Amino acid sequence: MPTSVPIPKAELHLHIEGTLEPELAFALAARNGVTLSHDDTLALRSAFAFQDLQSFLDLYYELMAVLRTERDFEELADAYLARAAAQGVRHAEIFFDPQAHTSRGVPFGTVVEGLGRALDRSVERYGISTRLIMCFLRDQPVVSALATLAEAEPYLGRITGVGLDSAELGNPPGPFREVYERAAALGLHRVAHAGEEGGPEYVTEALDALGVERVDHGRRVLEDPALVARLVREQIPLTLCPLSNVRLRGIDTMEQHPLRDMLDAGLKCTVNSDDPSYFGGYAQDNFDAVRTALGLTEDQERTLARNSFEAAFLEDDEELRTR
Ligand code: ADE
Ligand code: ZN
Repeated sequence: MPTSVPIPKAELHLHIEGTLEPELAFALAARNGVTLSHDDTLALRSAFAFQDLQSFLDLYYELMAVLRTERDFEELADAYLARAAAQGVRHAEIFFDPQAHTSRGVPFGTVVEGLGRALDRSVERYGISTRLIMCFLRDQPVVSALATLAEAEPYLGRITGVGLDSAELGNPPGPFREVYERAAALGLHRVAHAGEEGGPEYVTEALDALGVERVDHGRRVLEDPALVARLVREQIPLTLCPLSNVRLRGIDTMEQHPLRDMLDAGLKCTVNSDDPSYFGGYAQDNFDAVRTALGLTEDQERTLARNSFEAAFLEDDEELRTR
């Protein structure tokens, strides 16, 4: 639970599979006859101690085995939306990883229709408007991303954009240029994880090769002043995930997070929760963590919340209604 009254905000960097809480994982495992390698929720939670991004991804992909039916995806999204509402989220742009499901025999349509059932009643039930963003796995071949984009075509009414995630180091954005060109031609928005573990060069490449409209993470951009100047000039939003950065050991302590310096530099920063079940906190928990550790002012917190709505893929009239 947040330690403060939640500020109304948009969540722009949230992997729905990363909201799978241990209790739901075991319930779905029992329902679907899946055996997990941990004995119980306590043992599973104690495995949420990561060395780096890859050690997290290994468990993240393993646990997805419990997600099989439309109902499973619907319950997963419903549980997230209920928690997000309690944390002041008014709009959520939700990532999902289709290849992590289709590769295990779960059809693309099962994932999208299941998530869609929960999203369809989200405004009415939780006061949260939503968008879906499908992410390509950058550690899988480009042809697999192209095939996944083709698979998505019957469902484009439900999908707002494309993203790029999974293991960053050694998997730069450049090879996915054609995938993003095709996505743009289909009218989809474009974002990509860049500069999570990698340096600022991953961010520059995501901008140049993929034409991304937002950068997911970009935690290390201050290392490149020319890139900072470009991001400020073009007001390209960064979706930072502070608790994730500490849990995945990109930084040792929250006090070392560059967010305040990034705001001071004029970067359009937002604060998000990434994989909240695994990283110990949802949207407002991330706001609370940076406010406490970095001594953010109320004004800076309001700027972060305002940035989140301005950076969202909302129509102008929708933006006013959600704030
Ligand atoms: N997939 C889910 N969470 C991720 C993260 N933090 N970075 C890259 N890929 C991910
Ligand atoms: Zn992420």
